[in-house]
Amino acid sequence: KVMHDFINIAAHELKSPITPILLATSLAQPKDGDKQVTLSKDAFDMIVSNARRLKRVAGDILDVARIESNFLDIHKQNFELNELLDSIVKEYAAQVKQDSSKKVEFLFSCNGPIEIDGDKDRIIQVVHNLVDNAVRFTNEGSVIIKAVKGASESHVVVSIKDSGTGIHPEIMPKLFSKFATKSEKGTGLGLYLARNIVEAHGGKIWAENNENGIGATFTFTVLIASKIPADQS
Ligand SMILES: Nc1ncnc2c1ncn2[C@@H]1O[C@H](COP(=O)(O)OP(=O)(O)OP(=O)(O)O)[C@@H](O)[C@H]1O
Ligand SMILES: [Mg+2]
Repeated sequence: KVMHDFINIAAHELKSPITPILLATSLAQPKDGDKQVTLSKDAFDMIVSNARRLKRVAGDILDVARIESNFLDIHKQNFELNELLDSIVKEYAAQVKQDSSKKVEFLFSCNGPIEIDGDKDRIIQVVHNLVDNAVRFTNEGSVIIKAVKGASESHVVVSIKDSGTGIHPEIMPKLFSKFATKSEKGTGLGLYLARNIVEAHGGKIWAENNENGIGATFTFTVLIASKIPADQS
């Protein structure tokens, strides 16, 4: 039953971006002898955004399949976290600037470099998902990203705080489960994947609505790279 539901939802999520792509291209059907086609800007944008969505949803669904069959490989390496957070923040800040419907400022604070021990691409995926959500549910205000060392200096605590809608009470109890979404553009896999990736690293992830009643904060932990080189321990 669970597998059946998963396949049905996955099939629907994969098929739905294809319909607008086919529709937009059919409008530009070349006539006999035409060497080039003309697309309106709207049709072009529709193709690009749906192709991007399809790429992301397909990737997410494959990641779910990897997690559920225990094939999610984590390739750990030591790398500097704050540089990576900074570049992701800049990327989103530039993207939001292009969007006239959003007035969101980004703030990133940290205390110097932190070397962590993790799978860089997977950590990037987690941060992307969390910042993407913060931006998606915030039209005005700020998204504040912080990285601080935990008390024992064994791990770093990364938090993403927004001033958006806050987490809907219906979603709260199933926040990190598959296909739980309150977004028309979303699939509801971002947080499920984030939790599985963080836990595969031995970390924790949690969420809360902010105490002042405005927006939400998502927090995760990841291990700091050991200062003793492996061959000396
Ligand atoms: N920063 C946030 N503020 C308010 N609600 C949030 C926030 N982050 C997540 N949520 C809630 O949790 C739901 C699940 O988030 P998740 O990232 O798993 O899925 P999604 O963003 O809807 O879709 P996807 O990430 O697959 O594109 C969201 O639809 C939203 O209802
Ligand atoms: Mg998401």
